[in-house]
Amino acid sequence: MAQLLPNLERGVGDVVSRRAVTAAMAMTELTTQELLNMRFTQAAILAAAFLFSSHAFADGDAAAGQKAFSRCASCHATQAGKNGIGPSLAGIVGRSSGTAAGYSYSNAMKNVHLIWDATTLDKYLANPQGVVHGTKMFINVSDPSARGNIIAYLSTLK
Ligand code: HEC
Repeated sequence: MAQLLPNLERGVGDVVSRRAVTAAMAMTELTTQELLNMRFTQAAILAAAFLFSSHAFADGDAAAGQKAFSRCASCHATQAGKNGIGPSLAGIVGRSSGTAAGYSYSNAMKNVHLIWDATTLDKYLANPQGVVHGTKMFINVSDPSARGNIIAYLSTLK
């Protein structure tokens, strides 16, 4: 009986160490996956920077932008076709200005003919009247990093 005990312990030890190895392997896999995700994110940020060539957009934090969007949500829906005081912002990044279906724009917005890329959005959000003289939108976002975050969030709206 006394001699059996160390064997038993060794047996349990084997199981434990095998578990530890499995756990360590799982962790390594996770780390590899995380690394891939990180590479992907970096590649996506680089691609976005290339496409939109705007620091504000490339540096933007979409999650922070989603929080900041609460300032916009009282007037803007993010679902396509749902207009409020302002037009729906679904798919706004890359969209032509003044083209949300069923929304009654100011003449100023109807006639300005902009493409809402990161640069034009950044300027408009900083000073709506300065970019679209006579626009019905009267709020602005003076903090550049908040604008960058909001634009990063807007780019996730399809
Ligand atoms: C108090 C209401 C209100 C708030 C708050 C508001 N907007 Fe607007 N927004 C409008 C209105 C009204 C228009 C239409 C302007 C026009 O027709 O001249 C508009 C237009 C826009 C457009 C142009 C849309 C298009 O289809 O061309 C963008 C982009 C935009 N807003 C972004 C934002 C963002 C981002 C925020 C939050 C930081 C925001 N707005 C906050 C009322 C608002």
